[in-house]
Amino acid sequence: MKIGIIGSGMVAQQLGLGFLILGHDVKLGTRHPDKLNQWLGQAGEKGSVGSFEDAAKFGELIALATLWNSGATEEAIRMAGKDNFAGKIVMDVTNPLAPGGEKQPPKLALAYPDSAGAKIQSWLPKSKVVKAFNIITAYYMANPKLKDGTPTMFIAGDDTSANTTIKEIAERWGWEVEIIGGIEQSYLLEALALIWIRYGFLHNHWKHAFKLLKE
Ligand SMILES: NC(=O)c1ccc[n+]([C@@H]2O[C@H](COP(=O)([O-])OP(=O)(O)OC[C@H]3O[C@@H](n4cnc5c(N)ncnc54)[C@H](OP(=O)(O)O)[C@@H]3O)[C@@H](O)[C@H]2O)c1
Repeated sequence: MKIGIIGSGMVAQQLGLGFLILGHDVKLGTRHPDKLNQWLGQAGEKGSVGSFEDAAKFGELIALATLWNSGATEEAIRMAGKDNFAGKIVMDVTNPLAPGGEKQPPKLALAYPDSAGAKIQSWLPKSKVVKAFNIITAYYMANPKLKDGTPTMFIAGDDTSANTTIKEIAERWGWEVEIIGGIEQSYLLEALALIWIRYGFLHNHWKHAFKLLKE
């Protein structure tokens, strides 16, 4: 499958490499292609870089990995061209973070019942938005190997087959996956991301993940 990733940060780069390992073709989209030269060297011939619009046009599945603050994600979608997302699965990895103040972790810029996931679905009504991978640091997204065991990835989206596609990708990367409902449940996942961040901030420990324990 062709994967378009809107973004050039750690998330876009790690997801890009993860999709390449699964055998997909990957194009990262950015306003500054030069900063991805090192990534291109790692990616090999199935990886490429272009504009936001190039990545959105390229992707049969599109991942959104952009900053939320200052309207950046909405602007990136506008630059990518909303029509280029129509009919496609859009994997939303964003967290709507706002600065938390001096020596404080970030806080949520949106909260119940609103969320970045729900906003993105409303901006892209013809797309199948799935909230996923926002509750883990970029490094572990496609490589969830932790000493204490296999963590759980919670995902949410309105379209059953889109959820299944993302679930299968996550499982191939090694996650256990729980689908927790429609895209309106994104507010839960975005709050969960804040627990991940807050734990890291309080303990200066950044190698952790969530696991659902069952009997
Ligand atoms: N870092 C993590 O471990 C992690 C984990 C889970 C979720 N997340 C979430 O995933 C998203 C990406 O995180 P990240 O750390 O990889 O990168 P980031 O620094 O949050 O975002 C970088 C991307 O945002 C784009 N961007 C910034 N300002 C913009 C603007 N005004 N207009 C359009 N695009 C703009 C940049 O575009 P250019 O490429 O053109 O510079 C770049 O592609 C964020 O929402 C973050 O909260 C991050």
